[in-house]
Amino acid sequence: MDPASPPPPDTVRDTVRIYEVGPRDGLQNESVPIPTVAKLRYVELLVAAGLREIEATSFVSPAAIPQLADAGELVPLLPAADGVRYPVLVPNERGLARAEAAGARAVAVFTAATDAFTERNIGMTIARSLEAAAPVIRRAGDLGWWRRGYVSTAFGCPYTGAVEPSLAVDVAIRLLELGVDEVCFGDTIGVGVPGQVAALTGAARAAGVPLDRIAYHFHDTRGTALANVAAGLDAGVRCFDASAGGTGGCPYAPGAAGNLATEDLVYFLDASGWTHGVDLEGVLAAARFIAATLGRPLATKVGQAGGWDPTSGAPTGRPAGRA
Ligand code: COA
Ligand code: ZN
Repeated sequence: MDPASPPPPDTVRDTVRIYEVGPRDGLQNESVPIPTVAKLRYVELLVAAGLREIEATSFVSPAAIPQLADAGELVPLLPAADGVRYPVLVPNERGLARAEAAGARAVAVFTAATDAFTERNIGMTIARSLEAAAPVIRRAGDLGWWRRGYVSTAFGCPYTGAVEPSLAVDVAIRLLELGVDEVCFGDTIGVGVPGQVAALTGAARAAGVPLDRIAYHFHDTRGTALANVAAGLDAGVRCFDASAGGTGGCPYAPGAAGNLATEDLVYFLDASGWTHGVDLEGVLAAARFIAATLGRPLATKVGQAGGWDPTSGAPTGRPAGRA
């Protein structure tokens, strides 16, 4: 681990960071072109809901992810709100140069726990992807940017099956050595269960990774995402990814369905007494907006049921006119 970049002080233990991935992970797999102004509106609604970390887009090859080919147009338009960070996903130096030109200030690099997945996703082995990430992480550090590193397929791979925690942890350690502020373990295809979250967190801690440099990224493909969040909280992790409206999926991860919905996560955290700074009704407004933009009903649990007011027993946050 790089002693020059100590982890941030881990002071408030009952505060959870919700890292919104809707505009990037949520939209990257959508085939119908979404206008840049609609992406911007989605982000504006997320900011209004109190989200402070919003992964806005990616500077990858437009041939690989056509939906996000407008990253260079979107980033300069992002609302400059106090304390809001807009990381962008970057695969290589070319992507970082584009991100820098657009005015980005935070970056996420990505690799995975299995070679089979990285080869399908980005045409590289894990080792090669780390070589590609190294100058990106270094340059972003020189620019003073916040830096995250994703370890995808940390719970299971669509091409090779079960993944040992040690594989994911080894990759995470490499990313931290390269200088990322945080590693995010991704359950890209939504196969993980709480026992795996406990095992992976334990393995990471045993390898020297501080808890406040770990984030989790769950997909709700098999309905285990919130149970996995609970296991992460139990293990001491305090950062979780989610997507307002439950959009999401990776074109190179067959079977990947939506991310954990931000509205489902916010309801769960509120009802469990965690502080996070995000307003459920605001998230529901963003979720409804993106569902309407995509021409689909809002299918998430809390998107349909609304929140719940424990003082009156009534649902909250449902659109007017719905019983
Ligand atoms: N931004 C824009 N264009 C880029 C780029 C970037 N960051 N990186 C590469 N390109 C372009 C090259 O200029 C080249 O264009 P050309 O065909 O017009 O000459 C083309 O993409 C291929 O470049 P190459 O360096 O050979 O890369 P590749 O074809 O091996 O692709 C990646 C590697 C990583 C760039 C590509 O696989 C990618 O962007 N994948 C992203 C996958 C993703 O986002 N998945 C979801 C997130 S988990
Ligand atoms: Zn994802």
